Amino acid sequence: MYPFLLALHNWTRWLVLLFAVVALYKSFTGWQGNRAYTKADSAVYASFTGSMLLQLVIGGLLYFVYSPVGLQAFQRLGGAVMKDPEGRFWGVEHITLMLLAVVAAQVGRSLSKKQASDVLKHKKAFTWFAIALVLVLLMIPWGLGTWNPGRPLWRGL
Ligand code: HEM
Repeated sequence: MYPFLLALHNWTRWLVLLFAVVALYKSFTGWQGNRAYTKADSAVYASFTGSMLLQLVIGGLLYFVYSPVGLQAFQRLGGAVMKDPEGRFWGVEHITLMLLAVVAAQVGRSLSKKQASDVLKHKKAFTWFAIALVLVLLMIPWGLGTWNPGRPLWRGL
């Protein structure tokens, strides 16, 4: 189960990024161009938040059950996890900031739906989705330094 969930979490990252870019493009052009809010916009915004929720579920299963770098690391090593940058990244930073990113995406979707005008629907979505994307980009393990360990861009089963 662990290799499967890890690969799934790896692949879904690309889905999240794809939906994020399309949602940001649609919300920005919709806001700036004063364009009507259509069913297609709603579908794209829902796809972004949906893919983020999927990552939350898979990530949660990894963190709390299957992964050796999640809760198991604290059970094994205790506070020493926090002294190692990679241990801290997986034990605390990835999960906390990704959780905030999921919340930002949900807030954007729900505030967007509540607005009376179409331009405000796009604007709210753009603002909150942009915050979510920045957090996601910072917390994907691209190998940006000791604070951000590298992981494969694609994982086979
Ligand atoms: C929201 C809650 C999330 C939790 C709890 C979570 C948890 C985890 C955990 C525990 C790992 C380490 C797995 C291991 O090596 O055993 C991991 C890896 C990873 N996470 Fe997340 N994650 C979350 C969200 C996200 C999001 C939103 C993205 C990207 C859109 C993402 C992208 C990744 C990537 C690319 C890896 C490395 C996968 C690999 O090594 O192939 N995570 N995550």
